[in-house]
Amino acid sequence: MHFVTIVGARPQFIKAAPLSAELRKLHTEYLVHTGQHYDDNMSDVFFRELNIPLPDRHLGVGSGSHGTQTAAMLVKIEKVLEEVRPDAVIIYGDTNSTVAGALAAAKMHIPVAHVEAGLRSFDRRMPEEINRVVADHLSTWLFAPSQVSVHQLAAEGIVKGVHDVGDIMADSVRLFAPLARQRSVVLDRLGLKPGGYFVATVHRAGNTDDAKHLAGILKGLSSAPKFVVLPLHPRTRAAIRRHGLESILTAKDGKLIIIEPLGYLDMLQLQQNAAAILTDSGGIQKEAYYLGVPCITLRDETEWVETVEAGWNRLVGADPQVIASAIADMALLSEPPHPPLYGDGYTAERIVEALWA
Ligand code: UD1
Repeated sequence: MHFVTIVGARPQFIKAAPLSAELRKLHTEYLVHTGQHYDDNMSDVFFRELNIPLPDRHLGVGSGSHGTQTAAMLVKIEKVLEEVRPDAVIIYGDTNSTVAGALAAAKMHIPVAHVEAGLRSFDRRMPEEINRVVADHLSTWLFAPSQVSVHQLAAEGIVKGVHDVGDIMADSVRLFAPLARQRSVVLDRLGLKPGGYFVATVHRAGNTDDAKHLAGILKGLSSAPKFVVLPLHPRTRAAIRRHGLESILTAKDGKLIIIEPLGYLDMLQLQQNAAAILTDSGGIQKEAYYLGVPCITLRDETEWVETVEAGWNRLVGADPQVIASAIADMALLSEPPHPPLYGDGYTAERIVEALWA
């Protein structure tokens, strides 16, 4: 079969790496990069480090409001699909690139395969939630990471084409965590010792667009008893400036280490040696689990409920006191059991098999 795969944002490059490699053993793939993320450290570094084939087409869409960005992608993806005429289109996750790919393909009657289907936060104020719902309802193959997602799709009337294949990011961690251990020198570069620091990430619109949330999170992080490494997403850097919060970052006694966004190998190496991870990212909550590192999630809800039920993830929102006491409690926690929640790290093989059947 001939596939068009659509990627555009950082987590999609990480998810495409294992699936592209597996897919190309049997099929042909035409890789389209929408250009949603465009800085070298948000995009190109992943292609270099993870051996992802270079995009066959770069749409150069860049930033904009949701309408502007999604519409520009839609127009350009439709043109590519008219030209390439694939048998199916593969989309990942929940970004504006995902929903644009799903809409363009479905309207041209090209079947869509959605990797990471059936996830819900039940918060329609999150742009990602709208993207997930639309993408799932337009897809022919729905590759769900767990039974919870399968049940969610069934609750919305979607049962045909649903496959519980596990999580593609478990493949990425299986393949790249050992490589990160060999190659990354990030700990030395930052002067950190294994277990001597926390890693944090913040980029969700719900946290960055709201000055009170962002200030609360930064205060909570800066009260931590260890160093906190914060690779800053460009959205967050801009929001800190906009809300006038720079003073929290430069507090004299602060233990915050602010750095530029990292490549995947450095990020994995930092995560696998951290005492705990604090994040509002979906992908990082799972990576923390795969790497056996406790996670504190800076949101009130999560799509990855299994990690919370397993006792490895705790939802704390954006209140500085709640964040600080979650960090303090962390030290008291004994390690809960660690069952494989989202498959065994061989999801790419199962997806390719299902696409072939
Ligand atoms: C997007 C996804 C989110 C995903 C995240 C991963 C949507 C709605 N959201 O959020 O699901 O978890 O990617 O990072 O699609 N920017 C740069 N350089 C870049 C990329 C972005 O400066 O390389 C700036 C943009 O100008 C923009 C901001 O960062 O102002 C946010 O970018 P955007 O594409 O809206 O999405 P993310 O917040 O990254």
